[in-house]
This record gives sequence, C-alpha cells and structure tokens, in this order.
Amino acid sequence: MRERGSEPQMQDRRNFFRALVTGIGATIAAILAAPLAAFFALPAFRKPDTVWRQCGPLEHFPVGEITLVPLTPLAKREWPEDWGTEAAWVSRTSQQEFVIYNVHCTHVGCPVTWSPQARCFFSPCDGGVFDAEGRVLAGPPPRPLDRYEVKIEGGVLFAGRVYHVDDRLARTT
Ligand code: FES
Repeated sequence: MRERGSEPQMQDRRNFFRALVTGIGATIAAILAAPLAAFFALPAFRKPDTVWRQCGPLEHFPVGEITLVPLTPLAKREWPEDWGTEAAWVSRTSQQEFVIYNVHCTHVGCPVTWSPQARCFFSPCDGGVFDAEGRVLAGPPPRPLDRYEVKIEGGVLFAGRVYHVDDRLARTT
C-alpha cells in the first residue's frame, strides 16, 4: 500500500501545481495576445510613408531663380481658411540641384515672399528676413527656412517631407 505524504507536503505539492498551471496559462495568454497587441500598437510607432507632391516639370524652373509653386494640401484646414492652399519656394541652384523651401516663416508661420531684387525672403509679420539659402538675416525667426525633401522623377520635381536645418544648413530633423 502506497504511503500518503504528510499534510504539509500535500499542501506544498498543491501549491506547486497551482503555480505551474497558472504560469502555463499566463504564458499561453501572452503568446495569443502578443500579435493582437502588435497589430494595434505598431501603426502608432510606424513612420507614415512620404507623400511626394508635384512641383512641376524641371523646365519650369530656370537655373539661378526662385519660383513659387502651389502644393496640393495634405489635409483640409478648417482654420485659417486662407492657409488651405499650401505653397513652396523652389530654388534651382544648378541643372540638377534644387532646394525647396517651406513658405512658412520659422517664427510663427507667416508666408514669406521672395524678392529677386534684394535676393531675400521677407516675412510680412515681424520683420523676419532670410537670405537666398534660407538663413536668418534679421528679425525673430529662430532658425533658417524649413525645407522639403526633393525628388526628381521623369523630368518632374517633387516635394516630400518638411525638415529643419541649423545655421550651417545641416539637416536636424
Ligand atoms: S512670422 Fe516671420 S518674423 Fe514673425
């Protein structure tokens, strides 16, 4: 006849098996839940794809000139309504080199205008002035004009994401 263990031993065994079953259950639940959690959480961390917006055929941009182009808005703006249309300044610095500037001043966002005579961008709001490469010459803007990523495809110029540059015109974002 088999001898039964003492009551404390039995209790230990019961506790051990209870912990084992709980552990296995938790592991199975985690394995099943992980793909579901990843499905919902990952899009929040994924960088959205770049939307490339057409600026126009290359021949529209004479070398050495800076030209204003309308950009298709990425999203409809409710306010202020007159910002519903986006634009960019395209600078063609050589046959194959372009810089696309964000039209909004880096102070509080007023749309800058380009003066070919002065070869400067002027902000209409607080006296901000930028040189032809977007560097701050005067006023309160905290950094040079923001730029768009540039792509040329099939003889057409495209503007991608906006990024910031520092005073040496090195990309910072
Ligand atoms: S918005 Fe351009 S200087 Fe203030």
